[in-house]
Amino acid sequence: MKYPKEYIDEIKNRLKVSTVVSKNINLKKRGKEFVGLSPFKTEKTPSFTVNDEKGFFHCFSSGEHGNIFDFLMKTQNLKFGETVKILASMAGMQPYTFSKSDEIREKKFQIYIEIYLKYIDYYHRQLLENDSNKNIREYIKKRNLTINEIKKFKIGYVEKNPSFYEKLKKNYNDLDIKESGLFYFDEKKEKNIERFKDRIIFPINNISGKHIAIGGRTLNQTSYIAKYINSPETIFYKKGSNLYNLDLARKFSNSSENIYVVEGYMDAIALNKHNIENVVANLGTALTNKQIQTLCQFFNHIIICFDGDKSGYSAALRAAENLIQELKPDKNISFLFLPEKEDPDTFVNKNGKDKFIKFTEDNLNSIYTFLFQHYKGETDGTPSSYAKFEKKLRYIASSIKDEFIKKYTLEFFLEKINELTPNLRNFSKNKFQKINKTLTSTKKHFDETKSLTQVELKEFSFIYLLLNNIELTKINIEIINKVKLFTKENKMVFDQILKDLNSQQGINDLSLNIDQELINRINKFASIKYILKGLKNDQNKIMDLLIEIIKDLKNYELERRIEELESKFSKDLSESTFNEIKELKKLQKVN
Ligand code: CTP
Ligand code: MN
Repeated sequence: MKYPKEYIDEIKNRLKVSTVVSKNINLKKRGKEFVGLSPFKTEKTPSFTVNDEKGFFHCFSSGEHGNIFDFLMKTQNLKFGETVKILASMAGMQPYTFSKSDEIREKKFQIYIEIYLKYIDYYHRQLLENDSNKNIREYIKKRNLTINEIKKFKIGYVEKNPSFYEKLKKNYNDLDIKESGLFYFDEKKEKNIERFKDRIIFPINNISGKHIAIGGRTLNQTSYIAKYINSPETIFYKKGSNLYNLDLARKFSNSSENIYVVEGYMDAIALNKHNIENVVANLGTALTNKQIQTLCQFFNHIIICFDGDKSGYSAALRAAENLIQELKPDKNISFLFLPEKEDPDTFVNKNGKDKFIKFTEDNLNSIYTFLFQHYKGETDGTPSSYAKFEKKLRYIASSIKDEFIKKYTLEFFLEKINELTPNLRNFSKNKFQKINKTLTSTKKHFDETKSLTQVELKEFSFIYLLLNNIELTKINIEIINKVKLFTKENKMVFDQILKDLNSQQGINDLSLNIDQELINRINKFASIKYILKGLKNDQNKIMDLLIEIIKDLKNYELERRIEELESKFSKDLSESTFNEIKELKKLQKVN
């Protein structure tokens, strides 16, 4: 059975080509594209390019070309089905299981989006063309929107006494129409009523740009009518999974690191009108981790810009406490609070794009500062309120899943708390000595790590493990002797360790014979130290870890050898070279 296009498209939309490719190849940004060394040919100058906007890679040296699926199939010899599974999981999606019910669901989805498309197209045209909708067009104009925005966002207006149900009835059965959520059944009148009658409607799209729900705004000022209503949750529309305008905003991920998250439809549209197009709206619901994860697939910096009122602030606080838990090292979340009584719509219409951007730059609060400031604001000068405050911050830091972020967030909080207790300063100095500007240093750590090669990092971890587990190293010297390292400095250190261990003096002089600079570097970058800490000296587990690293290094050696041979083969086309490659590839699989 074929995978439904919807599912494949969803994978493509969630994963940038550069994200997938850079798991295997070091990419460097060059203009709108990325370049790297070809995985298909051995080469010294990069001829492999990736274009996220167009969704493909192209290799100038081999002529290979394709999308993310092609990339995995070609570079890892996978079948299409296996590729879909791997990429779906990378995209955070459930594996696709084929069954009768899936097939039915897929058909249902096609009908569902057809109904939405018909509905939205029809009322969009009504708004643009119907003479009796002049007053609605006037209102929209008063809200500073032009024909461009109406068209771009396919805004529509549903008349006061609509009869779309009857229209749909000709082509669709009652159940399908009912499941769209566009109508509800009025028991008294025994009639299907249009949920969005007499409302301006905003189509809500899935990530691929298909309409899957609607938001509708009334023009009535009366307080007993909800200003906005949305489609109810349906089989294909789940509130916490969607973001308004994500289908368009994600296209800007190459030109911008930032994505604005605003509360409302009108906010997102108004920013668009002022050429700020990297914006999505979460539509008045609490921002979920799922939504943030989706945004993180495309953008590195999420700017949450909620309304300048009490409910906007408390929504932001809830979001901050929740989202910090899942924060990843190369991602940032900031908060932006607009002046009171303003929302992004009113602000940008009053002040224009440049002032909005300037305001953003001047008033951004990192998630860390925001949480700190908020809880500090709750203290009242009493020791007990400070105690509560510190406890709360420690609790927030401990809720973070990523070990690095957890560590540096705690340090950041504690450093700031220290500033509040100047008399304890000398006392606590030793404990939190190195914590100035911890956030920049986290970033620096990651930037530096990025410039090191995978194998270099592996080697650092390997040596670190040896140096910190001398007894274990001695017992296993037979295996360790056989390990081959690749980078010059690491090789030197490793040779020295082996020499010392094999010599008479053994361990005692070990550290003396090695250049301290090199050791410092290893200590700094060996990410294994965090894992080792968690193992609490459990010798069996450390041994497992050692074996795993040796295996990885061995595989790297094989890879290099295979590369060499492949390059040789491409020139001499000899059978023996070919056989050798085959053997090595088999070995690689065993490992
Ligand atoms: N919202 C909702 N139901 C409501 C009120 C609001 O679903 N009863 C959602 C809508 O998605 C709305 C967002 O919350 O866009 C923000 O609400 P609000 O700030 O009240 O509206 P604005 O976006 O400012 O709308 P407008 O400018 O049209 O008044
Ligand atoms: Mn508004």
